[in-house]
Amino acid sequence: MILVTGGAGFIGANFVLDWLRASDEPVLNLDALTYAGNLENLAALQGDGRHVFVHGDICDRALIDRLFAEHRPRAVVHFAAESHVDRSIHGPGDFVRTNVEGTFTLLEAARGYWSTLEGEEKAAFRFLHVSTDEVYGSLGPNDPPFAETKAFEPNSPYSASKAASDHHVRAWHHTYGLPVLTTNCSNNYGPYQFPEKLIPLMIANALAGKALPVYGDGRNVRDWLYVGDHCAAIREVLARGRLGETYNVGGWNEKPNLEIVHTVCALLDELRPDAAGPHARLITYVADRPGHDRRYAIDARKIERELGWRPAETFETGIRKTIAWYLANQDWVAHVQSGSYREWVERNYGERRA
Ligand code: NAD
Ligand code: DAU
Repeated sequence: MILVTGGAGFIGANFVLDWLRASDEPVLNLDALTYAGNLENLAALQGDGRHVFVHGDICDRALIDRLFAEHRPRAVVHFAAESHVDRSIHGPGDFVRTNVEGTFTLLEAARGYWSTLEGEEKAAFRFLHVSTDEVYGSLGPNDPPFAETKAFEPNSPYSASKAASDHHVRAWHHTYGLPVLTTNCSNNYGPYQFPEKLIPLMIANALAGKALPVYGDGRNVRDWLYVGDHCAAIREVLARGRLGETYNVGGWNEKPNLEIVHTVCALLDELRPDAAGPHARLITYVADRPGHDRRYAIDARKIERELGWRPAETFETGIRKTIAWYLANQDWVAHVQSGSYREWVERNYGERRA
């Protein structure tokens, strides 16, 4: 079996669902069920013996040691993290704890387990660390996209904590020989994304007739990738990636935020028209994110060259599927917009109103 951490979150849940659609290899899913973790994401696996869920923290060394000893996973796919930049600005401590200390704890537990293995079992073991393009910093308008050789220049508490975790993963390979792989991916979108991130927030707010808060001038650029393509890339890297290497994963799909928001509005106008007028009337410029990175773009040629991976979805097909999913799953959105979600919205957007 494989051990997945953070498999009740957005990308982790998509990965687990895709994995078990494509193979019968069981998944041991370790997740602390923070505000971002949601077992509803995995409802389709209820009663499926191939999915073993463990409610626990990646900082809990005793628990992880026990899971390795009992389940003997052949690989770890490590998603668990605090993932939202705005939350890292309000409260960086959780990011250092989960992203740095948690990754360290997992690496140490994996190293301890791996050192007990022998022969083929030892040679086949993998630790795949899922990371982000944000570790590379921010690009100017004419800079080339991030290659794997780009120096790290993290600018937010989130990206600094992810960069620290990437460095630990690298060091555990270099020093101890732990068979690691790292992926650095661009912005994902798709089903089950928590509506604190740009695309699901805009969909949820537009459907509720609420303001669509665009930070700054709306011209910050992100490289958007459909989540299913990210999951496929991770499967390829896990199966055939070269040990100790990092692979950048991206959509070849750079777009300014304002264009994303207009696309969401236009699709909602088509699929769920609002009698009050076009959804774009709700666009509202608000105070910028402190330290807001201007542009991310991924050079994904290495993973294509070495592993033959390319995104299967275009932005047009991916965003249409995503909006259709949110329209069909408004109960899911209502459930995650709990009391703590409302507190977050007030905290993050209340102070931007001026
Ligand atoms: P998410 O916030 O939706 O999910 C994170 C999951 O981790 C949740 O289920 C949460 O309960 C769990 N978790 C948090 N702290 C934990 C802890 N201490 N122990 C165990 N579980 C814990 O995040 P996501 O968007 O799915 O991102 C998953 C991974 O992919 C992260 O490592 C993130 O840095 C990386 N990534 C995300 C994106 C993106 O666009 N969302 C892009 C590139 C890389
Ligand atoms: O690049 C990969 C990263 O993408 C991941 O590592 C992170 O986990 C993920 O959260 C995402 O980070 P971003 O900060 O780019 O994503 P977010 O959805 O928060 O914001 C996307 C852009 O939209 C960014 O330029 C900020 C802007 N934005 C965001 C929100 C939530 C707005 O203009 N208004 C908003 O309300």
